[in-house]
Amino acid sequence: MRLLLVSGSTRAASGNTATLRTLAEVAPPGDEFDLYDGLSALPAFNPDDDEPPLPPTVADLRSRIEAADAVVFCVPEYAGTIPGSLKNLLEWTVKGAQLSEKRVSWINVANLGRGDGAQANLEVVLGYVGAVVVGPACLRTSVNGLSRSDRGTFVDPELRAQLGDIWKAFAET
Ligand SMILES: Cc1cc2nc3c(=O)[nH]c(=O)nc-3n(C[C@H](O)[C@H](O)[C@H](O)COP(=O)(O)O)c2cc1C
Repeated sequence: MRLLLVSGSTRAASGNTATLRTLAEVAPPGDEFDLYDGLSALPAFNPDDDEPPLPPTVADLRSRIEAADAVVFCVPEYAGTIPGSLKNLLEWTVKGAQLSEKRVSWINVANLGRGDGAQANLEVVLGYVGAVVVGPACLRTSVNGLSRSDRGTFVDPELRAQLGDIWKAFAET
């Protein structure tokens, strides 16, 4: 099992990225992860540029999705929906269809009562690109106030167990 982990936050101290780092840390032996780090480097989507030769950052994104068995998104809410930078990433996958029939899940770590717009809109876009959302591998939780290790990962045992269950859910689907 190889998971591509895509954070929708470009912030250095991002809780969403820290959640994905923690998901990587609890990977079962033998399973693999790829923490995507290219969100800020993607150019603004332009259909004129969606032709060979692709911008190198776009080619890199597409090959990393293709190499993954599944993709996990952990995305903050900005202005009631997903961050524009993540929507931009998803638009770069439409023509290449890299997410079509790809298993995906989302993790929503917004404070309780927040983040519903991002979650709902992410589901809309994932549906549009033909991704297969694996329900048991999705997680609604909160990381508010949780302490972090020196590696920038969460140490909370309950969260780590919940994240471990994501690996199991993908293994079982
Ligand atoms: C420009 C901007 C817009 C935001 N809009 C919302 C919003 O609509 N709803 C919400 O719940 N939080 C909103 N937030 C708060 C972020 O979702 C929150 O700070 C989140 O933890 C950021 O994730 P990160 O720690 O991974 O960077 C907004 C933050 C920023 C910077």
